Amino acid sequence: MILPSGEAVPRLPGARRWMWDGEYCGAISLRWQPGTMDLPPYCLGHIGYAVVPWQRRRGHANEALHQMLDIARAKRLPHVDIVTDVDNTASQAVALACGAQIVRRFTAPETSGSFAAILFRISLG
Ligand SMILES: CC(C)(COP(=O)(O)OP(=O)(O)OC[C@H]1O[C@@H](n2cnc3c(N)ncnc32)[C@H](O)[C@@H]1OP(=O)(O)O)[C@@H](O)C(=O)NCCC(=O)NCCS
Repeated sequence: MILPSGEAVPRLPGARRWMWDGEYCGAISLRWQPGTMDLPPYCLGHIGYAVVPWQRRRGHANEALHQMLDIARAKRLPHVDIVTDVDNTASQAVALACGAQIVRRFTAPETSGSFAAILFRISLG
């Protein structure tokens, strides 16, 4: 896989699902490294999600995250991390509604945009 910087990195194992309600609503993805819960520096969280603007506030992200957590459990992952911008209250609300706890605030690496971020963790135990 080639990063925007041009660096070639190995593709991580993962799962990607579309949110579908008779039409495309959004996508959610899960990625991890075999044998560790650590992620490489170019990958901020285990799960990322986005809903198209005209389908928001209908519960799609909430439902998609619930379903993706079942997939993560089936992969025997003990937890998943989700990183949001400190200003992204919508994404934070989705994570919190699915049981996320705040781990820490930090500044995302320069390669990810150096934004003020919050690390959330959802325990799958
Ligand atoms: C974050 C995002 C995926 C949420 O998708 P969504 O389908 O609208 O979320 P849901 O409808 O499942 O919302 C679940 C809950 O989150 C909260 N929430 C969602 N959008 C919100 C907003 N704009 N402001 C405040 N709370 C919000 C609400 O509590 C909501 O429940 P409610 O509608 O009953 O009040 C969507 O806003 C998005 O695609 N944003 C851009 C991409 C992005 O930021 N992705 C996350 C990167 S970490």
